[in-house]
Amino acid sequence: MIIAVDGPTASGKGTIAKYLATHYRLKRLDTGALYRAVGLGVLDAGGEPGDEAAAVAAAKALDLGAIDENRIRSSTAGMAASKVAAIPAVRAVLLEAQRAFAADPQGAVLDGRDIGTVICPDADVKLFVTASLPARTERRLKELRARGETISFEQLQAQIAERDERDRNRAESPLYQASDAHLLDTTDLSIEASAEAACRIVDAAPARPRP
Ligand code: DC
Repeated sequence: MIIAVDGPTASGKGTIAKYLATHYRLKRLDTGALYRAVGLGVLDAGGEPGDEAAAVAAAKALDLGAIDENRIRSSTAGMAASKVAAIPAVRAVLLEAQRAFAADPQGAVLDGRDIGTVICPDADVKLFVTASLPARTERRLKELRARGETISFEQLQAQIAERDERDRNRAESPLYQASDAHLLDTTDLSIEASAEAACRIVDAAPARPRP
């Protein structure tokens, strides 16, 4: 079974994808981590995330097994990720690794922005997870403060809105809800309630015949 989980930043999609992977014993790929690692790779090399040549070089050099899970969670890495993700040549480099991951006969859960629309258009179940901008800002603020980052609610909300705008309006693989994706709004849901709602959707979904 392939489960595609898409949605904007801090919507709860990562937490839901992790829960679904454990619950259904599937492996999981957080595709946002790939873009974050590429963005950070460009910054580490002293480059600009919007510079195509630098971003493509970082994407080609990406080692999935060597991603620093702590460093990629910073707000700086998130902003850089959103910039490299708007470059079609970067997306092309990362496409094959994501498709290869999804091709595992055991199935998989992938979460990101374009999983149900571009990476796995034939996924068995597609979820589009969302939440209001203030709710997402509040969640991300807690995460960043726990990491020791000092940023105000207003600053962070403006950053998230800017990333949303870029992710939704870019020409290549923009974020949108696939026509066959189930919408899950987590604004007023706890983590447990969100995870349970996601499981109900997956359990109710008819299995798709494999080609
Ligand atoms: O989900 P996240 O915040 O970790 O994602 C970081 C950035 O990567 C986000 O701004 C958009 C981009 N991204 C993407 O374009 N496509 C994906 N499949 C996953 C993430």
